[in-house]
Amino acid sequence: RSDRQEVIEHADAAGDIGYGKIILLGEHSVVYGRHAIAAPIPLHIRAEVKPQPEHTDLMIPRWGVEMRLSEPERSVSSLHASITLIAERLDLADRGMRIDVFPHIPRANGLGASAALAVAVIRAMARCFEVDISEREISNLAFDCEKIAHGTPSGIDNTLATFGRPILFRKENALARAEIRDLSTPAPIPVVIGLSGVATLTMQTVGSVRAAWEKNPARYESIFSQIDALALAGADALKKGDIAELGELMNIDHGLLNALQVSSREIEELVEIARQNGALGAKLTGGGGGGAMIAIAEPERTQPIASAMRSAGYNTFITEIR
Ligand code: MEV
Repeated sequence: RSDRQEVIEHADAAGDIGYGKIILLGEHSVVYGRHAIAAPIPLHIRAEVKPQPEHTDLMIPRWGVEMRLSEPERSVSSLHASITLIAERLDLADRGMRIDVFPHIPRANGLGASAALAVAVIRAMARCFEVDISEREISNLAFDCEKIAHGTPSGIDNTLATFGRPILFRKENALARAEIRDLSTPAPIPVVIGLSGVATLTMQTVGSVRAAWEKNPARYESIFSQIDALALAGADALKKGDIAELGELMNIDHGLLNALQVSSREIEELVEIARQNGALGAKLTGGGGGGAMIAIAEPERTQPIASAMRSAGYNTFITEIR
């Protein structure tokens, strides 16, 4: 639970930023061509890039990262590989620069920090060296960075990190173009986010689901299709502002994520606390195996839910889907 105490603060979303996200319905099955719903959270990562005569330095003081990218012997981390890829793709591999990153998203919690970091750095590097790049190209490049970090990403995290709006997302297969539909809801939906304090290793949970699917594709395909139906029903519930229905869909989805065995003891405790304190729906969000969970509730229930989570020793914050 080392990062439980990590400070969560809402900072100004100005400058070159990538958005954090929650997945409301459909994580994991989205990797297998099914629909998922994601929404931005008011937490982001910001980056600044300044030219320097030689060497590329990456500084993320909050995460204790200080690396010189031009030193090949240190090229083992996925962070190093991602930033190097960005510089190459923007045709800046031979330029010296200092990259400062200011994360306001807790790391390794399934809230999209790695994709947000890639998007922020792409934007800042492109701005500094006046490289023309479209939003779609930013998202695609961040997707390639996500492949380094996660192996087989669906593309939902980089899409959210770039565009920062609620979406229904589907990518039928690795070669298909992502289908992205904007979602809106008539009134903001209150969300409590609970952090398990245990780092989630998305690559690991995505890998364990893949191993189970490879052993028994029919069994797992049917679970993915059930989750797909929940995500499609969720898009309708959001459109109508029917939070009781959305909550029920989230509860069922959590049950199916349990069937995929990607929950954890802490996530189960948080889900239980949320439901006992009046949440309409509660589920893990993101890769699982630790990381974060979300609960939706009537506005007057969010504080009691968050307080009960804090009393049990968990870090939480309250946000809304709008
Ligand atoms: C991670 O935020 C969501 C997963 O579905 C992985 C992915 O879609 O790439 C677990």
